[in-house]
Amino acid sequence: MNILIVGSGGREHVLAWKIRQSPKVKQLYCAPGNGGIAELAQCVDIAADDIAALVQFARENKIDLTVVGPEAPLVAGIVDAFEQEGLKAFGPGREAALLEGSKVFAKEFMHDCNIPTAQFHVFDNVEKAKAFITRAMYPLVIKADGLASGKGVAVCKDLMEAEKAVDEIMVRKVFEGAGAQIIVEECLEGEEVSVLAISDGEHFCLLDSAQDHKRIFDEDVGPNTGGMGAYSPAPVLTEKLRKTIENRIIEPAIRGMQRNGTPFKGVLYAGLMITADGPMVLEFNVRFGDPEAQAVLPRMKGDLVEVMLASCEGWLDKVELGWDKHSCVCVVICSGGYPGEYETGKEISGLKEAGAMSRTIVFHAGTKKSGDKFLTAGGRVLGVTSLASGIEKAIEQVYKAVDQIKFERSFCRRDIGSKAFKWIRRRSEVAR
Ligand SMILES: Nc1ncnc2c1ncn2[C@@H]1O[C@H](COP(=O)(O)OP(=O)(O)O)[C@@H](O)[C@H]1O
Ligand SMILES: [Mg+2]
Repeated sequence: MNILIVGSGGREHVLAWKIRQSPKVKQLYCAPGNGGIAELAQCVDIAADDIAALVQFARENKIDLTVVGPEAPLVAGIVDAFEQEGLKAFGPGREAALLEGSKVFAKEFMHDCNIPTAQFHVFDNVEKAKAFITRAMYPLVIKADGLASGKGVAVCKDLMEAEKAVDEIMVRKVFEGAGAQIIVEECLEGEEVSVLAISDGEHFCLLDSAQDHKRIFDEDVGPNTGGMGAYSPAPVLTEKLRKTIENRIIEPAIRGMQRNGTPFKGVLYAGLMITADGPMVLEFNVRFGDPEAQAVLPRMKGDLVEVMLASCEGWLDKVELGWDKHSCVCVVICSGGYPGEYETGKEISGLKEAGAMSRTIVFHAGTKKSGDKFLTAGGRVLGVTSLASGIEKAIEQVYKAVDQIKFERSFCRRDIGSKAFKWIRRRSEVAR
């Protein structure tokens, strides 16, 4: 088969790495790809959101399956555009992708399907929104409706912060049309975890758990980022909790989309808060998380291409996913200044040494190749990933590999994976 991956981050690198292992693959392309992906796939200079050019490329190069990494092309309808041309693409169609493309749509859908989520109000009018937040209890959470690259949510501790968020989204329109509506919702307390499922519209399989680290600094301090690291499996997710999430959240969501006539194919990602009242949905995404994918996919046994074909063609009930018992930790190395401004073009050293360590893979997120050197080309630069028996060993191993890698003003969190210890300790205390 000829396969095209759309995207250019660490998520697309791990997809390329996993897809490459499939005996079904003949040619692998990635548009636009990055320096690391170029070692596994032929990179094609087409932007991930240039749907017309991607369709044309797929037609001309006899692509049998296109795998879409990021949300923007999915929300813009890339899968529909491919299917109209008789081309196969893994991911939801435009209407199903609204689960991520519109937080208002997602909240109303959850309400209709009785899926547990925070209490909420929707506003499309600044005065009404302000009148509401003046009377509200704090803390509360304000969200722009549409895609905002992970920057459209503010957790507000008082009215001043809430007014600032409303002004940014609705008056200064920093997210443009994505801020035409806002959600004001109850602030939930608990631990965050993501649960991902792959569906063919009717059947679905859960992936093994992973936990992301969104904040820039250790101990979850500082501003949100695209994700500073992840580990899998996440012990906060017990078998019992997983079952609850499957029955109360994933299954009703798949059934609800089916009932609405917009069956959900692809990856359904539920961002959850495990509250004292049980798991509640913070948001849905409609694709693999980045960097959760870098922590989960290395643990997946079997052929990902087969799973994706089953999702496109409706026979996921014939597929069983298996998981490596080892723990996997992915640490993201960033450019100094990220998530604010940063410089690019810095030479990266130590990649070979890090990659040569036991069961360690260096996924590239923002790099480009220049001759035989790799240069930084983004805020999140690399996702160093190690597998080992037990989370402690995986953490030790991954940081040994991280310490091999150097570039000017590089930094990373030093505590990725350590959240797992709390749950492991708690469980062993209960067992005693
Ligand atoms: N209702 C809520 N209560 C507490 N924290 C929230 C709530 N909603 C979102 N958050 C926090 O904000 C982050 C981003 O919100 P999310 O809905 O996942 O949007 P996005 O990923 O699109 O920015 C979450 O990971 C979580 O930390
Ligand atoms: Mg989120």
